[in-house]
Amino acid sequence: MRLSVVGCGYLGAVHAAAMASIGHDVVGIDIDERKVAALSKGEAPFFEPGLQEILTEGIASGRLSFTTDMSAAQGAKVHFVGVGTPQQAGGYAADLTYVDAAIDGLLPFLTEGDIVAGKSTVPVGTAVRLAPRVSATGATLVWNPEFLREGWAVQDTVDPDRLVAGVPSDDGYPTAEGERAADILREVYHPSVEKGTPFIVTDYATAELVKVSANAFLATKISFINAMAEIAEVTGADVTTLADAIGHDARIGRRFLGAGIGFGGGCLPKDIRAFSARAEELGRGESVAFLREIDAINLRRRDRAVDLAVDALGGTVFKKNITVLGAAFKPQSDDIRDSPALDVAVRLHGLGAWVTITDPAAIENARRVHPQLNYVEDRDEALREADAVIVVTEWDEYRRELSPEHAATLARGRTVIDGRNCLDAASWRAAGWTYHGMGRP
Ligand code: UDX
Repeated sequence: MRLSVVGCGYLGAVHAAAMASIGHDVVGIDIDERKVAALSKGEAPFFEPGLQEILTEGIASGRLSFTTDMSAAQGAKVHFVGVGTPQQAGGYAADLTYVDAAIDGLLPFLTEGDIVAGKSTVPVGTAVRLAPRVSATGATLVWNPEFLREGWAVQDTVDPDRLVAGVPSDDGYPTAEGERAADILREVYHPSVEKGTPFIVTDYATAELVKVSANAFLATKISFINAMAEIAEVTGADVTTLADAIGHDARIGRRFLGAGIGFGGGCLPKDIRAFSARAEELGRGESVAFLREIDAINLRRRDRAVDLAVDALGGTVFKKNITVLGAAFKPQSDDIRDSPALDVAVRLHGLGAWVTITDPAAIENARRVHPQLNYVEDRDEALREADAVIVVTEWDEYRRELSPEHAATLARGRTVIDGRNCLDAASWRAAGWTYHGMGRP
């Protein structure tokens, strides 16, 4: 099938390449000329495992191309919209400028029977507002949220755990037009549909809410365990053992119970804020008032990591060499948007520490935003002469591949702060280090 994908950021670029990899003819459209030039040469504009391979393959096969020219969308049967919905500059709500511009830009190139499939994360009520504009061209708007995780984006797109299609509905039931649109999406995602992946057809509002509520739930799970970490800190309990123990309850589950410096990235923080703002607009602010607390707990964990460093270094970090291992908001990513790791590094720098920071993928991005830090590519070089080491992104390079004995040959001090509870505390202690975890004795 011929597809267009408007917006070639983390979401759109992966979606375009993944759709080509399952046999479709895809054109990716973006206003950023540099990004389009890179993608057209088969170069991934950001770090995402597996993306490079499917980009190269797609372009070589002739099924995948990129352009800045919106008219290239003409002739495609399904037009995906995967542009950003960042937090508004002056508030918590989502900025829908790019979504509106993408839809308006597509309108002149739509033909009767086309499908416009919104993938961006939007406040509930967006699709119903946009639908008349799309319908006026004879095309149909559907909302088809994306649940991909950075670092696993290719796999999550090619083989998702569920597919959701919000289609035109009447009283909660899909109209004939809605049924037809859902069938076309089933054709697009044929390998998943044939495999039996749940394909949920619903109305616009439910589809939009599935996405934001999933992210709200995940954020809540992380902040819940971080709240337990705060209690553990004043009682001498160990939050990691606690998480293991409650995680054995199948109703709870161990995933996303990793206590540490909390969540960041381009999605969870802004999505819970946009959800609160939207709930307030709807007169139901109290229903998700707890999300404010989730956000507050999350941000407190960054303070906690900084406090641990200050205490461990005798009450001040002024003129102390602190090596920060990690800058990305999570491993397998070069994304530094709202990265707790980078935030901790910047705060330590602000307190007068000499911060040396390293990361396997995110240095370039981090340097652009925070040029004041000392960036070092080589992990061992970064560890040299450190008075304290703080692990803030749980890359394998730090978690598995850095032995405490080896680190001890490089650093000056013997203080390690495990901001992600990802190190083996016993072996670091055995090698002579003073180990500080998050919510651990
Ligand atoms: C998230 C959702 O998982 C995904 O479904 C959605 O489509 C987009 O938002 P992503 O932003 O890629 O994906 O990251 P995710 O893996 O969810 O991690 C988010 C943050 O939470 C990271 O900073 C991570 O370090 C942190 N985290 C995760 C924890 O602090 N503890 C955990 O147990 C898990």
